[in-house]
Amino acid sequence: MANSKTTMLVLVVAAPVAVALLLYRLAEFDPASLPEHVLYRSPPVVPSKRYGRILESAERVGEGLLPGPEDLAYDSETGHIYTGCSDGWIKRLHVADSAEEKETAKTQVEVENWAFTGGRPLGLAFGPDKQLIVADAYKGLLRVSRDGAAVELLTDEVEGLKFKLTDGVDVGRDGVIYFTDASYKYGMEEHNEEVLEGSPYGRLMSYDPSINETRVLVRHLYFANGVALSPDQDFLIFCETIVRRCSKYHIQGEKRGTMETFIDNLPGFPDNIRYDGEGCFWIALTSEKTSFGDAMMRYPKLRKTVWMLGKVVRLPRRLSNGGVMGVNLEGEAISLYSEPGLFLVTGGIKIRNQLYIAYLTNNYITRVHLNKLV
Ligand SMILES: *[C@@H]1O[C@H](CO)[C@@H](O)[C@H](O)[C@H]1NC(C)=O
Repeated sequence: MANSKTTMLVLVVAAPVAVALLLYRLAEFDPASLPEHVLYRSPPVVPSKRYGRILESAERVGEGLLPGPEDLAYDSETGHIYTGCSDGWIKRLHVADSAEEKETAKTQVEVENWAFTGGRPLGLAFGPDKQLIVADAYKGLLRVSRDGAAVELLTDEVEGLKFKLTDGVDVGRDGVIYFTDASYKYGMEEHNEEVLEGSPYGRLMSYDPSINETRVLVRHLYFANGVALSPDQDFLIFCETIVRRCSKYHIQGEKRGTMETFIDNLPGFPDNIRYDGEGCFWIALTSEKTSFGDAMMRYPKLRKTVWMLGKVVRLPRRLSNGGVMGVNLEGEAISLYSEPGLFLVTGGIKIRNQLYIAYLTNNYITRVHLNKLV
């Protein structure tokens, strides 16, 4: 009896630990120390207005028809929202205009398969000619013709390094495209590895279609993600998910080509960013920060341990309180719309009195009625 119990104990407890220890020693996986200034020790930014229960004033749109709608682009002329899905399609749906906005908007939503990239479309933005520019995680930077029929590759490498996770995009009025590659080392399916390693493999780039030129604007970024231009097109902001910050990169004027902090120590992990035309950047927060997450950032050995455990057992993921944050042009957090049960929130845009929220893995988008929130 005792013997078989001992054997069981060895099998159930000791064996995985032994495997894990072995892995730990053998693994080439070598997490990096993060610079001191991104290991925020003070409490995160607190937006002046906070709504922590937004789903009570919201509904699901296109449920079941939108697998992983990651980012949102809005065409105000036609009233269509475009979103890139995990089945490789960019889908579009029509949202009710202000006259119909009442209760009728709730049901009838027609979702169309609009353009097929065959990859994983993430960031979306319209160019001045109304062609849709797509940051596709697998394919690179793409351009879709106005009728959705033709998808063309613009660029997928620079300085001899292929993009592994083309992620966020915005387009200037002059047609120049600003975009990010989250990592030249890890792809979409390995983004946890990127987080655990904590090395800066991300890049902010520009692509000028008139001369077919790709340029690196900023390198060594910690998971470069959303990009949005300012209304005067004198700067853009972009975020780095792992270190919870958004930076400002000047594209015009005396400071052209330089960078500074726009807002850091965010309450959660930033993803896509959209400007609403009314003085506010909307920054999606995939999940709120946790003290365990902070500890992981601080201690590379803890990240290595988590990585190694993940090879042996299935680790629970504790993500919650995702949402969308409103930040003004001065980089001040003015509002936060969140909900405990939301996570992997990747996009948000405000259209009139409604906030639309997109997700990496849910199969719908959420429409929040801002005037019903208390
Ligand atoms: C643009 O440049 C890339 C790389 O330099 C090249 O491979 C590609 O063929 C060019 N595309 C066009 C349309 O000239």
